[in-house]
Amino acid sequence: MRKILTVVGARPQFIKAAVVSRVLRVTPGVREVLVHTGQHYDDNMSQVFFEELDIPEPDYHLGIGGGSHGQNTGRMLEAIEKVLINERPHLVLVYGDTDSTLAGALAASKLHIPVAHVEAGLRSFNRRMPEEINRVLTDHISNLLFAPTEQAVQNLLREGLPMSAIHWVGDVMYDAALYYGEKAERYSQILQRLNLPPKRYVLATVHRAENTDDPVRLRVILEALVRVHQEVPVVFPVHPRTRKRAEAYGLQGLLDKVLSLEPVGYLDMAMLEKNARLIATDSGGVQKEAFFYGVPCVTLRDETEWVELVELGWNVVYPPLDVEVVVDALLRQWEGAKASPYGEGTAGTRIATIVANGF
Ligand code: UD1
Ligand code: UDP
Repeated sequence: MRKILTVVGARPQFIKAAVVSRVLRVTPGVREVLVHTGQHYDDNMSQVFFEELDIPEPDYHLGIGGGSHGQNTGRMLEAIEKVLINERPHLVLVYGDTDSTLAGALAASKLHIPVAHVEAGLRSFNRRMPEEINRVLTDHISNLLFAPTEQAVQNLLREGLPMSAIHWVGDVMYDAALYYGEKAERYSQILQRLNLPPKRYVLATVHRAENTDDPVRLRVILEALVRVHQEVPVVFPVHPRTRKRAEAYGLQGLLDKVLSLEPVGYLDMAMLEKNARLIATDSGGVQKEAFFYGVPCVTLRDETEWVELVELGWNVVYPPLDVEVVVDALLRQWEGAKASPYGEGTAGTRIATIVANGF
């Protein structure tokens, strides 16, 4: 029996791991041990994904979250090491670029346990981002590098990583969007609940440290969203980090001037994305989902790792430095993003509802 130990901890990792775990669970001769570091801990940042995406209960829950990078990574390293000594897996599987990713990879490599990194080779070339440090270090101590894009493969080769370790496999988030996106159509009621007309609103998410920990950038983003909301509805599921920072900087009043929500589950998020006319985000995952669902995207950052989307013209990058520039960008992209001439694929339901209600 081959034992694979998966380390997850943050929202996007639950989604990525759900895709691989679903296959591992039905693969003969394999047993997966799931470790949740606790980096994300609110129910709507963690539990909801386990329920909606049918992820088994973690075998270990380390309960480590809410600290600084050093605290989180250090405490996770110590706790994961204990689990690894206890479990002795054949391989440790880590995802993405969070502090949980680095802690898992580092703990394993020091115990000479092979590491596999899903979403290897992504680079922003901005070493001020905590994620960039996590990715680079994780790639360099991994034995198997699962790259989502051709560009990621090139990045790894340029850094001297061996071709034999690199596997171009595509992006697990695309698998997730295909599999659960369809489920979202059946189960999510969020459009009805919020009374949102399809293709007539902007969906926004913001959580990157460089945007939330800088009061000037956070103010620019929130003021721009408020201004855009005066023209077209802005729906904004707010990451807990962003809410806390907005409160600390006295900006929470701005959150009340758009349609701000608590973080939503994956199925509701997929539905909000599919039906948005435009997405404004600093999230890596949401940029890609915008593309998967055919929705234009404005990325509120200085750069992006997902350069293909910019080259394809699907994504435009605007550093949030000036309210006017961001408002202009969003409204211009909104105008350019015409709603589909054939509706939203809901004609059948609409007809049936009208007919069933006797006109
Ligand atoms: C982390 C990842 C980031 C990823 C993001 C996904 C790192 C360095 N960053 O950023 O790459 O894009 O997750 O969402 O690992 N908080 C809560 N409740 C929660 C989770 C967080 O209140 O359930 C608050 C806490 O105050 C916490 C803060 O948010 O200290 C930041 O959380 P943390 O996990 O350190 O970083 P994220 O910004 O979520
Ligand atoms: N997401 C979600 N609910 C939300 C916001 C995001 O389910 O309220 C999903 C989103 O669809 C994507 C993932 O979380 O699949 C992206 O995670 P996040 O933006 O936190 O991190 P990143 O991708 O930037 O690392």
